[in-house]
Amino acid sequence: MKTETTIQGLSASLSSARQSRKTIGFVPTMGNLHQGHLNLVREARKICDVVVVSIFVNPIQFGPNEDFDSYPRTLEQDSNLLADVGCDIIFAPSVEQMYGKNKRLTTISVSEITNDLCGAQRPGHFDGVAVVVTKLFNIVQPNFAFFGQKDYQQLAVIKQMVQDLNMPIEVIGVPITRAEDGLALSSRNGYLSEEHRATAPAIYKALKAAETDLKNGQALTDVLAQIRADLTAQGFEVDYVEARSPMLQTVEQFDQDVVLFVAAKLGKTRLIDNLQVSHSA
Ligand code: PAF
Repeated sequence: MKTETTIQGLSASLSSARQSRKTIGFVPTMGNLHQGHLNLVREARKICDVVVVSIFVNPIQFGPNEDFDSYPRTLEQDSNLLADVGCDIIFAPSVEQMYGKNKRLTTISVSEITNDLCGAQRPGHFDGVAVVVTKLFNIVQPNFAFFGQKDYQQLAVIKQMVQDLNMPIEVIGVPITRAEDGLALSSRNGYLSEEHRATAPAIYKALKAAETDLKNGQALTDVLAQIRADLTAQGFEVDYVEARSPMLQTVEQFDQDVVLFVAAKLGKTRLIDNLQVSHSA
């Protein structure tokens, strides 16, 4: 496994793969990797000849009061984990390498689906993600790119952008990796106290109960209100409980496949989760 820190170095490392038309799979990350990230790499390994993982904490997707400076940078540990799951190349550029010295004048904004859910509390966040992912796509030029369904809104935004801008990349959403008790794996789980860690799986339990209730014919609005009430009763400060279509259009009733979304805080830690509920099965 190689680590490249410059765009030129990465291009040189990929040139023979490109010449021999090998398929390139790409997993963009901000590092501090856990099994959820490693499962993205495992999926890439299954279908691609060459697997590239980027590790880059992207300053432009953090708001002024967010944790850019304190975001954990754990390159050595991440490299060891990536070597074990068959990553071929790590791309770990500096901020200067990615953004250069000149002022950036181009923005990428995927409208409508970035203003609510997590976008409501994080203005500009998804624009920052769209810019860095576009830059990384242009640098790596992958055939396939892998994103976790845990950040479902991000995945939908990237899929929309790739479709709207005719980017020649297939975006693959990988199912959420969960702990045995159902908690969706996230770098943020490490911030939970022991007590909050024990409470946190209630989000997934509430989502699964909601799935059953929907399939038993309960009204969508009642089911969403029940999730909110359950979580509030258990000490969560609920930010949102929402239902959307798979491409994030608003839905009024359970008359099609829906995705249920929850964002809730336990202490200072904000957790997000989602569950896709199919209408047919
Ligand atoms: O999901 C993340 O880790 C980041 O938002 C991404 C896609 C690597 C862009 O910085």
